[in-house]
Amino acid sequence: MTRIIMVGCRKGGVTKTTTTVNLAYELSQLGNRVLVLDFDGQGDSTKFLTNDDCEYYIGDALLDRKFDISKAIYPAIVADKEQDNLHIIPGRRGDIMTKLDMDMISLTRREERLKLHLSKITDNYDFILIDTNPGTSVLGLNAVMAATEFIFPTEFKEHSLDGVEALIEHIQDVKFIEEDEISFLVVASKINKTAKKSLAYGQEYLASRWPNNTAKTIIWDRSLFAESEYEHEPASVINRGHVAARYYKELAKEIIAHA
Ligand SMILES: Nc1ncnc2c1ncn2[C@@H]1O[C@H](COP(=O)(O)OP(=O)(O)OP(=O)(O)O)[C@@H](O)[C@H]1O
Ligand SMILES: [Mg+2]
Repeated sequence: MTRIIMVGCRKGGVTKTTTTVNLAYELSQLGNRVLVLDFDGQGDSTKFLTNDDCEYYIGDALLDRKFDISKAIYPAIVADKEQDNLHIIPGRRGDIMTKLDMDMISLTRREERLKLHLSKITDNYDFILIDTNPGTSVLGLNAVMAATEFIFPTEFKEHSLDGVEALIEHIQDVKFIEEDEISFLVVASKINKTAKKSLAYGQEYLASRWPNNTAKTIIWDRSLFAESEYEHEPASVINRGHVAARYYKELAKEIIAHA
């Protein structure tokens, strides 16, 4: 069955996009068919994975029941090569996504539209990863409703952990379920090894709050990710031999095993 994973946190800058793009790439490198959906108005995963000249975007499908969603799917471009196993439905930047969100408010079945569209293409993919923004929106509701599971990247900072708590609360409300019915993994990300106090605080928080839902893989704070963002390429493409290039490969394996 296709695993539809929303990557989210109610806090900005906690590596949602970095996690979506790198995890999607590593999953595809392990032989999985992967689709990325960019639901964030900053269009960051779109920047990573396309040349930015895509005719259609996710809004074309969400606004129109009859739109063939496969028309908005493009092969991802990594190191100038179109990928067979990694595809993307691009987002658009700024006002276009805000306007899309406003336009959707008055539509029927406005929260289920993504789920309904995806049902037509799920057989083509092993994983669908949805990159989201930190706020509440109709687009975000669509991501929650469509997702079969969740990844919450978090730094070891109070606001970021609060961002995970707030999103878990929101998912319970939207899906009418309890926390133990949500399939999710909390991923400690951009963690500074030398900040001993915050390291202890974060590890203790995760171990006591989510002992069974914390990823074993830790994504440490490494400058390779800044270079990766600058080059618009996954970390392991920038420098295959770098220690940080292995983090998302390890996470991908863990997620495959965590089925
Ligand atoms: N492991 C890491 N080590 C160091 N820097 C990182 C790491 N992961 C991501 N970054 C950097 O942190 C910044 C925020 O990451 P990213 O854009 O993925 O966060 P986000 O949660 O998607 O943000 P937003 O809420 O704005 O969408 C980026 O500049 C990124 O390059
Ligand atoms: Mg982002």
